[in-house]
Amino acid sequence: MSSLPSTHPLLDGRTADSALIRAYRGDRPATPPVWFMRQAGRSLPEYRSLREGVPMLDSCLDPAMASEITLQPVRRHGVDAGIFFSDIVIPLRLAGVGVEIVPGRGPVLDSPVRTAEDVKRLADLVLTDEALTPVSEGVATTVAQLGRTPLIGFAGAPFTLAAYLVEGGPSKEHMRARAMMHADPDAWRALMEWTADVTGRFLRAQLLAGASAGQLFDSWAGSLSPTDYASHVAWASHRALDAVRDLGTPLVHFGVGTGDILATMRDVGVDAVGVDWRTPLDEASRRLGGETVVQGNLDPALLAAPWSVIETAIDDIVRRGEAAPAHVFNLGHGVPPETDPAVLTRIVEYVHSLEGSVSQ
Ligand code: CP3
Repeated sequence: MSSLPSTHPLLDGRTADSALIRAYRGDRPATPPVWFMRQAGRSLPEYRSLREGVPMLDSCLDPAMASEITLQPVRRHGVDAGIFFSDIVIPLRLAGVGVEIVPGRGPVLDSPVRTAEDVKRLADLVLTDEALTPVSEGVATTVAQLGRTPLIGFAGAPFTLAAYLVEGGPSKEHMRARAMMHADPDAWRALMEWTADVTGRFLRAQLLAGASAGQLFDSWAGSLSPTDYASHVAWASHRALDAVRDLGTPLVHFGVGTGDILATMRDVGVDAVGVDWRTPLDEASRRLGGETVVQGNLDPALLAAPWSVIETAIDDIVRRGEAAPAHVFNLGHGVPPETDPAVLTRIVEYVHSLEGSVSQ
């Protein structure tokens, strides 16, 4: 039983039979469904003109603008899903954390969270349902226009958010965050608990308002050893998803450089695992025991290559994806801003044309 409202797209007949939801549930539609991480954004001229002069996080919190930006790639590319236009740091901002997105850099904090006292101050901040209203409204406006195309809601996993909170901004190896988990395990636990709860509420707001699936992004989990991931991080991702399990929507878990921890990522309790471009999907499926749906994994760098190169890579990915119970086609990470959007449209058309033709 799901505690979603009966008017939710997943329950009222709009999205339960869509290719995306069927695939996430382990069924094989005629061709793999396809969507792209970061399909909304700077690769689209219509996005650049709408965003002109509006700071990134303000655009996420304007329900009409967030909705329009979410719909742009769905209209243009004919992808099998929208992904709600927002950012992993939005729940931090809505809880009262001073954070901005600096163009070309990423999230930057007013004051980093480095000590046990910093964590205590952070843990006093509460993310209310009221503060999440712009998110719920943006999702509701979007699904009202998406019809039978499912919307994916998302959230950042506690470790990736902690990597920004502790470092105070983007970093290469997340050294300070990795240090805190060993130097002050109590502060680390408190930081991860708070982050899990805040990010879980952000995801829940999107799913309740009409998103039909949820993806947890642990983009930077690949910087951890498998042992550290299993003992200091996986429990918190599990806790974040505990906030939404009663809703019964499919859940997906993705990270970059996570080839060695795919099974542990699956075991936080998800239906599908996103794979970056480094691990072939048949190998990923083998590591997952052949029983988990996979999503991925075209190298974003190939988007700049001649079409014949892209086509060969797609054939290979779709063939390898057949080792898993089901496969959702995607990139191995987000769309680079300089991508020619016509290439993305062509990829969607090509994947949709592959019915039964690849495995021979
Ligand atoms: O289309 C979609 O995928 C939905 C929108 C989305 C955004 N951010 C919009 C965005 C999603 C799912 C995210 C998640 C996100 N944000 C992640 C996890 C996914 C991943 O890419 O690994 C991370 C690590 C962030 C943090 C973040 N926000 C970064 C690193 C950046 C890039 C900074 C830059 O300018 O290059 C952002 C900003 C951001 N989030 C942009 C978009 C479209 C670019 C902002 C702009 O247009 O100026």
